[in-house]
Amino acid sequence: LSLLAITGCVQMTLAWTDLNPDGPVAEPPLLIAENQPVSPDEWRATRAQEIREALEAHVYGMMPDASSVSVLERKVIDENAYDGLGVLEEIVVKAMATFNGVPAETSAFRVNIVLPKNAVRPSPVIMMASFCPRWDTIRHPGVYRPEEAGSCVEGFASPIFGYIFGRYNATPPIAEILSHGFGFAAIYPGEFIPDNRERGLAALRDLSKGHEDDETRWGAIGAWGWAYSRIVDLLETDERVDQDGIISYGHSRYGKSALIAAAYDDRIDGVIAHQSGTGGASLNRQKKGESIKQITGGYPHWFSQTYAAYAGREEDMPVDQHHLLALIAPRPVLLGNARRDVWSDPNGAFRAAQAADAAYELFGSGGLEQERLDEWRPTADLAFWIRAGTHGTVKEDWPAFLEFLDAHFKSDGSS
Ligand code: GCU
Repeated sequence: LSLLAITGCVQMTLAWTDLNPDGPVAEPPLLIAENQPVSPDEWRATRAQEIREALEAHVYGMMPDASSVSVLERKVIDENAYDGLGVLEEIVVKAMATFNGVPAETSAFRVNIVLPKNAVRPSPVIMMASFCPRWDTIRHPGVYRPEEAGSCVEGFASPIFGYIFGRYNATPPIAEILSHGFGFAAIYPGEFIPDNRERGLAALRDLSKGHEDDETRWGAIGAWGWAYSRIVDLLETDERVDQDGIISYGHSRYGKSALIAAAYDDRIDGVIAHQSGTGGASLNRQKKGESIKQITGGYPHWFSQTYAAYAGREEDMPVDQHHLLALIAPRPVLLGNARRDVWSDPNGAFRAAQAADAAYELFGSGGLEQERLDEWRPTADLAFWIRAGTHGTVKEDWPAFLEFLDAHFKSDGSS
């Protein structure tokens, strides 16, 4: 299992100071160059595209011109998984990316999907990518696991990690999620874009052969975001799936990717980005916690080299992370935070949400319906969740996520 994931978590815990509730509101999100209000049509036709291009050029690197997925094998593992609540499947796929007319494909990887059994209507589905493997996310003996493969939830150190980072980082409460009427799809991007400097960069290069410029080549955070969309490629032809209820969910580095996924793919209808921090929901300007220098120094395979070049001169960036949130408007987004998780800068995420609110309003949405960080409004389209404690997914988090999901998506089980 990735040493980077472990050092990342340790870094998070060491940054254990309390939240700074002050801080200026960021610039309005409707512009890159000029401060002009736009209409929803103008936003969709020009401004959103301009922002996507700027985020690629300055933060994440270039996304493919075309993409697809091909299914190599598909089987039902268990008709009665989770005590009869769901049908569990495993799909072996390869994903394709084309840059400047040159196609390339990933190595084969697996997607596990569990859908509520006997649903009377198509089910919304939560997609999750994680630094913990699929066989940790979906704890079922039928899920394929390579020999001698690592795990976040086994071994002598796992109770300690579970204690510090919460027991839900690796394994969400899937039985409960199914009983709320939601399906669940899991991938482990480490299977095809490893979270490792050398191997990660090599995989990213192989997949983007047609893109010659190393400075603007995509990093793993963008490519993992693209990987969520390859799950959507599978879900969008499945009649059991509610096509208005496809949600990207991720924690921390995958929270960043879950946001990118929705910002670049309109087929995604909602996002839960938990503690996504730098390169995710938190602004680069006036940042507390992890700086561009720290993130690009520690994880050189995560972003384009152009982002690293803004270290120490964040004010010069023509985009900031509220633009990423604005691209998702008016679709529902939950930003998860913890008060002592200052490394991911909850305050910077709140300021980004305040700034992105204007994009929600442009579409007639109430957007962020809270003035303070701790006024939780699960029904808001831009919902900001903050709890006590540190980095991780703990027992209070999923009840809040489910409150948000039940409020925004139609499922059989919703209360
Ligand atoms: C590190 C990294 C963060 C990241 C986190 C995680 O702490 O600095 O940017 O979000 O790992 O993925 O847990």
